[in-house]
Amino acid sequence: MTDVIDKLNWRYATKKFDPAKTVSDEKLEHILEAIRLAPTSSGLQPFEVFVVTNPDLRAKIQAVGWNQGQITESSHLLVFAAWDDITADRVNMMFDLTNEQRGFINEGWEAYRKQLLGIVAARGQQANFDSAARQAYIALGVAMVAAAFEGVDATPMEGFDPAAVDQILSLKERKLRSVVMLPIGYRQPEGDWLVNLKKVRRSRPNLITEIA
Ligand SMILES: Cc1cc2nc3c(=O)[nH]c(=O)nc-3n(C[C@H](O)[C@H](O)[C@H](O)COP(=O)(O)O)c2cc1C
Repeated sequence: MTDVIDKLNWRYATKKFDPAKTVSDEKLEHILEAIRLAPTSSGLQPFEVFVVTNPDLRAKIQAVGWNQGQITESSHLLVFAAWDDITADRVNMMFDLTNEQRGFINEGWEAYRKQLLGIVAARGQQANFDSAARQAYIALGVAMVAAAFEGVDATPMEGFDPAAVDQILSLKERKLRSVVMLPIGYRQPEGDWLVNLKKVRRSRPNLITEIA
């Protein structure tokens, strides 16, 4: 098996973390850098990630997160929060950053900026948020693979009340909305009902169709 397949077989949605084990700063930074490098539509990176270690905040989030133990027992809780809208200011911020970092203004890129400004203005706030949320999920996927490569366990998590988490982390004020969370840490096999169960996936033919 290739390395990446081994890692994907190793990882699982951890149900019980060892609260005594902490992910090192180095490994955490690798996972966060993988998130930062994840591709997004038009390169907007329309989300932010909050690394929550504060015990009080995590207890509050657990209370609105189906009381899932991973929220408080993991080493770090990553909260992915999407832009609540893709505004002209936000589009311009990213296009200006591109020009600044590349050190030149490209005509084609500027034409695309205008086109994108038109698209996001026309489709409205909800569709923009939905699009931003999808981009956050791409970063979530990249983070999970990165964590597996670091030997760090992780649980993707949608089982929480996003509006309540937004309130706990004051996300509305920052024009963000929580969409998914990723507690990371180290598995505690005793007490984890999933750790020894077979990984269940649809068969290749059931999932993949080749059209030559
Ligand atoms: C977007 C998303 C949300 C999920 N939400 C939760 C959750 O709230 N709690 C949980 O324990 N597992 C959650 N899971 C884990 C899935 O149930 C799990 O990934 C799936 O059953 C496949 O199993 P595996 O990840 O162990 O291979 C979520 C997974 C994804 C991708």
